[in-house]
Amino acid sequence: MLDRHCLYIGIFQLIIWVGVANGEFYSSVDSMQDLAQVEEELLNATRSYVESQQKQLDFYRRYVEQIKREHEWATSQLKLDDYLGHPLHAFRLIKRLVRDWDSLIFEPILANNAREEFRAFVEVLSRDLGYPDQSELQGAIKGLARLQKVYNLATSDLADGIIGGLNYGSDLRWRECYEIGVQLFDLGEYQRSLEWLQVAFILLRNSPREEKDADHYLSDIREYASMANFELGNPKKAARLLSQILESQPTHSAQQTQKYLESRVPGKNVQETKPSWFSNYTRLCQGRRLPEERSGDPLRCYLDGKRHAYFTLAPLQVEPVHLDPDINVYHGMLSSKQILSIFEEADKEEMVRSAVAGSGGEGTVRDLRVSQQTWLDYKSPVMNSVGRIIQFVSGFDMAGAEHMQVANYGVGGQYEPHPDYFEVNLPKNFEGDRISTSMFYLSDVEQGGYTVFTKLNVFLPPVKGALVMWHNLHRSLHVDARTLHAGCPVIVGSKRIGNIWMHSGYQEFRRPCNLTSDSYKSLAYRD
Ligand SMILES: *[C@@H]1O[C@H](CO)[C@@H](O)[C@H](O)[C@H]1NC(C)=O
Ligand SMILES: *[C@@H]1O[C@H](CO)[C@@H](O)[C@H](O)[C@H]1NC(C)=O
Ligand SMILES: *[C@@H]1O[C@H](CO)[C@@H](O)[C@H](O)[C@H]1NC(C)=O
Repeated sequence: MLDRHCLYIGIFQLIIWVGVANGEFYSSVDSMQDLAQVEEELLNATRSYVESQQKQLDFYRRYVEQIKREHEWATSQLKLDDYLGHPLHAFRLIKRLVRDWDSLIFEPILANNAREEFRAFVEVLSRDLGYPDQSELQGAIKGLARLQKVYNLATSDLADGIIGGLNYGSDLRWRECYEIGVQLFDLGEYQRSLEWLQVAFILLRNSPREEKDADHYLSDIREYASMANFELGNPKKAARLLSQILESQPTHSAQQTQKYLESRVPGKNVQETKPSWFSNYTRLCQGRRLPEERSGDPLRCYLDGKRHAYFTLAPLQVEPVHLDPDINVYHGMLSSKQILSIFEEADKEEMVRSAVAGSGGEGTVRDLRVSQQTWLDYKSPVMNSVGRIIQFVSGFDMAGAEHMQVANYGVGGQYEPHPDYFEVNLPKNFEGDRISTSMFYLSDVEQGGYTVFTKLNVFLPPVKGALVMWHNLHRSLHVDARTLHAGCPVIVGSKRIGNIWMHSGYQEFRRPCNLTSDSYKSLAYRD
């Protein structure tokens, strides 16, 4: 119905953003860049280790050859006594043994400075730069599983490097698919685990010559597949897979697994219970709307130069996306240069994995929200402009504004449906609840990362420089439960947004009529 790209201007910018201490890397592309840096340093260090070892070994080889020649010549003389009876020969043998072997061979071999340097480097690496651990790997794999779930990505496509019909030319090897299958098994995602194990099995079987112990690995895959089947309530299939292994390899650990499974009750094939919002959420995340039973005129983009003198020369480019409650997109609000300055400000702060505001105001890190975030006040020149934009567009007093939260979502990064208001346990440093949300898109996203309103049939693809604004409260200041919204997982790319939440204290008379089309009757929508 609307052309979402009414006023779309996109300039791709590469932003380097470093410095995540103890961050969880997979949740943000920014922190993934740190990991790329870590790997580059590892590469450099390993290469120089190998080179210096190589040099050292070449030296030893030459030395040994030289001594060998002399030694053979001496011992091949008819009389070794005659040879050693020569004073210079005797001197050289003793000198070699006392000096040369010791300083040129024994010492460097035993000290192995290159190895010690490498050891020190690895210590620094894991202490200062942060090195991903098992939980990071699980996080990355969970991210993949999440993408599959929300976007219906077939495991075989993903393994082929195909996402959203595009081939990114990064197909996975059997070992990687196997690793994903094993991790998903450990996470209790048995169905998904089985799919990955099957892909791994096929890949390995089709390229057995590349792998020395192909049969052995095929058995390992079967063993995991057996356990996954058992957990999924298919004990017969599980038993069949194990006996297939034992036919060809009677001593395989499948023997123990067989005994173990026999002692246990098979899992039940339970259908996962999905939250009520799930089908709306996935549909909208995929950019599919329900046919609208909307009454009245379709919404149209328009220019607004009257809202504030600030917009007389450069009118607001408004794209209304929903009337009641009102959701508007304002295009071209921030230039690429301003966005870069915002990132520079954010760079000065340390990004920490986003916590979800809990009832006590204390955040907890959960999979509900997967991103990295930081907070910016309005003191710097660029943030001062941001504050003015919010004030002029919304008509609200910035005294009620929280600092801007800058968040970065990496692949699989998401925020499940949530309202922005608190309703209970309001934060003490602000007057009233969060009356409005202003969200700047600070990047385009190659695939995924839409903002969706699950109760309103609205999805918004991120458009760099645009601002989305809506009210979370009715005019009565009661919460408007229809504003439930979500950030869909990023499929390809990096999503950056800046959120400003405005509190309602003393703002009730400033709420401009034009932004508010809800009425008291919509209170009936409250959950
Ligand atoms: C790694 O080595 C290359 C070339 O030797 C150099 O350009 C690069 O800066 C090094 N990277 C790091 C992180 O030290
Ligand atoms: C799903 O969306 C429709 C509108 O498209 C809405 O009427 C319905 O309440 C939504 N369901 C849930 C559970 O949010
Ligand atoms: C809202 O804005 C439109 C267009 O800018 C204008 O025609 C209308 O009069 C405004 N409504 C109110 C209630 O101010």
